[in-house]
This record gives sequence, C-alpha cells and structure tokens, in this order.
Amino acid sequence: MDFSRTDFPPGFLFGAATSSYQIEGHGVGGAGSTHWDDFAATPGNVVRGESGRRACDHYQRYEEDLDLAAAMGLDAYRFSTSWARVLPEGRGTPNPEGLDFYDRLVDAMLARGLKPFATLYHWELPSPLADLGGWRNRDIAGWFADFTAVIMERIGDRVHAAAPINEPWCVAWLSHFLGLHAPGLRDIRAAARAMHHVGLAHGRAIQAMRAMGMTNLGCVTNHEFAAPVDDTAEAAAAAELYDGIYNRWFLGGIRNGEYPADVLAGLGRHLPEGWQNDMATISEPVDWLGLNYYTRKLIAPGQSGLWGDLREHVGDLPQTTMGWEIFPEGLYHFLTRVQADYARGLPIYVTENGMSADAPVHGAQQADPDRIAYLESHLGQVRRAVAEGADVRGYFIWSLLDNYEWALGYDKRFGLIHVDFETLERTPKASYDALKSALSRS
Ligand code: FCB
Repeated sequence: MDFSRTDFPPGFLFGAATSSYQIEGHGVGGAGSTHWDDFAATPGNVVRGESGRRACDHYQRYEEDLDLAAAMGLDAYRFSTSWARVLPEGRGTPNPEGLDFYDRLVDAMLARGLKPFATLYHWELPSPLADLGGWRNRDIAGWFADFTAVIMERIGDRVHAAAPINEPWCVAWLSHFLGLHAPGLRDIRAAARAMHHVGLAHGRAIQAMRAMGMTNLGCVTNHEFAAPVDDTAEAAAAAELYDGIYNRWFLGGIRNGEYPADVLAGLGRHLPEGWQNDMATISEPVDWLGLNYYTRKLIAPGQSGLWGDLREHVGDLPQTTMGWEIFPEGLYHFLTRVQADYARGLPIYVTENGMSADAPVHGAQQADPDRIAYLESHLGQVRRAVAEGADVRGYFIWSLLDNYEWALGYDKRFGLIHVDFETLERTPKASYDALKSALSRS
C-alpha cells in the first residue's frame, strides 16, 4: 500500500472493525434470541435463510482472531457487545457467560496492545423486546440505558472508547421504512418513531456511561453520498431529501439538537407527541464522531408521489460485489462536511470503510488487489481531508474477518482475513499482508 504512518498525524490509529452478531456465533454461550434470528428464519428475507447462529465462531476463536489483528500492526479494534448475549430477555437477569465473554475479550485486546473501541448495539435486538415493539416503543431508551449500565459496569473501566449505536439510519430507516433489515417493516409511522427513539436511546446511554465516570464517548453514523440521477430539478430535490434522511438527521439531532427542516416536513406528523422535549437528551455532549462510509447512490424521485419515495440507481463507476460504486471522494466530502457542520472541536474517526470482493480458490491465499486499491484510495482521501484541516484521528477497516453480511448472508466477503465457513479456518489475504507492511514501514 502506498502510505506509511508518517503520512498521517502523530497518534493516528489504524484499526479493524467487526460486530457481535456477524462473527461471534449466537448459537453458543447462552445468548438469547434476537430479531435478526427471527428475520432470518422468515423465508425471503436473507439469502439462503442464513443466520448468525455459527458465523465465524469468534466466541470460541477470539484469541486467534485478536492475534491476527495484533500481528497486522493494528492499534485499535472496534467490536460490539450483543444485548441478547448479555441480557437474553433484553431486561432482567444477565447471562454470566455473556458478561464473562466480553470481559475476556477486552482483556485479550489489552494484552495484545489493541485499544478497545466498544459499540453497544450493532443490531441484535433481543426478541422479547421486539415483541414489545422494539424501536417503535419509547421505552426502548430506558431498556437500552439499563443494558448499557450492565455491560459497562463489567468492561467500562477498560475500554478506550465507546459509542452506543452503530448506524442509526440502518436501525431506523433501512429496517422500518425500506424493510430490508430486521424487523423488516415498511411503515412510515414505525420508521419515524424509530428515527427518534434511536437518538433518544443514544442520549440515554451516553448519560448512563457519564454517570459511571466513563470518558471518550462518541457516536457512529453512516453516510452515503447522494447525487441526483440526472439534471432535473426533481432529481436534485430527491437527492437532497435522501441526503437529509441519511446524512443530516442523526448528526443534526445529536450535535445540533435539531432535526433538518426538509426531513421534518414529511416525517414530523409521524413523530411521537412531545418529541421536541427529547432533543436535549439526544444532543447530550459526546467526545468524538465516528463516520462509516462505503459508497454513493444516484437518486431519482419514485413514481408514487408520496413523501419519502426515492429510488436508488447505480452509476457507471466500478462496483464491489455488493453492487456498491467505488467513490473515494465521498469520504473526503463527509469528513470535511462533518468537520465544518458538526464537529465543533470534536475529533473524527472513520469507524468503517472497506469493500466486499470475491472469495479465493479453496485454501489458497486470496490476491485481493481491488481491496488494496480501495483502501489506498480512501486513505488518500482521509489524508486530503486532514491536509485541509479535518481533525481525523483514526481509520477502521470493515472488516477484520469475512463474516455474516446481514440480508446477503455469507458470500459477501469484506475481510482482510478469509474465513472458510465450512472449516472455520482463517487465512490472511494479500490486503492483510499489504497493510501489515505499510504499518511497519517507517
Ligand atoms: C455497515 C455495517 C456493517 C457491515 C458493513 C458492510 O453498514 O455497519 O455491519 O454490514 O456495512
């Protein structure tokens, strides 16, 4: 790879990211059922009906995985804690095995010199809470704050940084309006409530962690560059609204204590009554901002004429196996925009960036030149933003391992390390070696 550490500010952290349900194996260790298990068990939702039941069996192989992360020369590791592993019923009695697991996991990171970046929720809502309405139910903010206290009482003294919720847009919009992730709803009222409650839960979790004396607390939002599909005014308006829902809603709430007016115009009447009173909690001060970035979309208005009917088109840039266009300039765009509009002195991390590429011939090391090029070009855009004053402090690659890619199952491979899902054997890819030599270069 065409960089060395000296191309980045002193102390810049290089890391890899994973999430609990995607790698641990939810069938072991006493984890409770999650809405992802239910969603995956419903025909038509997930490719081949695959679930996170076994995944990478990281629950039992975490030491080997962290050995590989450390041997690459990484400084930090971003992981998530499964609510259903810690509290199988979502509330009430904790699962001691679950708490012990995260305790061991954090110690294993520290023993290898990896800074633990914890995310409390990366999408595996306990089924009993889904039964109560999940993200549609305002009570989720309290349930989540309680879960936060339980897990952080165990590991909060040793994590380097913590963020409550991974990608609020996916939790709310993708899952309750577009219906593509659990719980698979397509309902504007459900979506509006989820869009609000996810922020409220974030704020309550921040308060819970502050009350425990924790520091270095942040948020992790995802961003997609939205460009109009053509030069009509309708397409421009559609792209602007897409940008509002996707890129401005959550940071507007969390950082500025207000939602963007263009999104409120459509969503406002579906929000819970008195939502304005929650904005102070939602905008509880944080210490850093994490951005996840992968791609751009070309946006067109839908045919229905209904608010929020937006169509995504794929342009003619090279694509990953997800069908996502590779558009590194988008990362620069969001880093500079967040620096200008939301950071106000807070450091920024790229908490996810990476690409899916095809699997190797069985047993052989995968030459993944496309991933190497993707990472180089996006790191180039990070440098460009830093040179222009963006206070970017770290970059996490999605992902350490090939894993369960949600509704697309196991054949979308994002890992620096190949996983054979039959034997569970791990094999570092060429990108792993390239990153390792770049990080060791002086
Ligand atoms: C992000 C998710 C992560 C993974 C990548 C490809 O939106 O946070 O779990 O699925 O996309």
